[in-house]
Amino acid sequence: IQTIVTAHYEEMSQLAADQVAAFLIKKTNAVLGLATGGTPLGMYDRLIQMYHQGKVDFSHVTTFNLDEYIGLSKDHPQSYAYYMWHHLFSHVNVHQENVHIPPGVFEKQEQVQRDYEQAIERAGGIDLQILGIGENGHIGFNEPGMDLEVATHVVPLTEKTIQANARFFTSIDEVPRRAVTLGMGKIMQAKHILLLASGKEKARAIAQTVNGHIDPRIPSSFLQLHPHVTMIIDKEAAQELQ
Ligand code: F6R
Repeated sequence: IQTIVTAHYEEMSQLAADQVAAFLIKKTNAVLGLATGGTPLGMYDRLIQMYHQGKVDFSHVTTFNLDEYIGLSKDHPQSYAYYMWHHLFSHVNVHQENVHIPPGVFEKQEQVQRDYEQAIERAGGIDLQILGIGENGHIGFNEPGMDLEVATHVVPLTEKTIQANARFFTSIDEVPRRAVTLGMGKIMQAKHILLLASGKEKARAIAQTVNGHIDPRIPSSFLQLHPHVTMIIDKEAAQELQ
């Protein structure tokens, strides 16, 4: 895992945006795997700026988001679909038909899971996967456990994750209890992975990701097995790295 430690969140965000832009210059029709949450917001902002400056072009880009809350429709303000359109897609020239986000409302779970993975395969797989990391080491919504799922699946969120997400809702009761997430399989099959982390709350998870045993109780530790992972983290997130 290549680790780049930055002075603060803004520098992390700029460097991450530069790396994504550089990637898209080399491969204009890249397939991006995207994350939501607080961490990539600064990177998305800068990508929008770079798009306005003519430095990055999304017209041939395909995207697949990692996850979505179950029970929230795509126009619900707390859905990840809404987040992505609001924070990135509406401001750049990505084509709507090239944007993929797992549906939060569906009838047949198995079909959703299968269709999402098939769509990724048809697109040729994920070239660059952007990841955040949970305080407990979760990746997407692959939560710590005795084992990890390879395939796209439905997960109950842990109490810790529900609490961490509550800041985006008016009350903790509104936070969905389940999500659909890409499994570890498609994440680990991404050709390149760019993991971002900021703040001392992430320091332990980052240290365990890099130095710890590979353990399903720390899902991010599996990234040690991936040949092309870059972590861009700020100094607070890096403070427990030896
Ligand atoms: C979101 C996702 C999550 C977040 C993680 C960190 O699509 O996959 O794994 O990356 O919960 O969230 P923040 O960035 O809000 O600390």
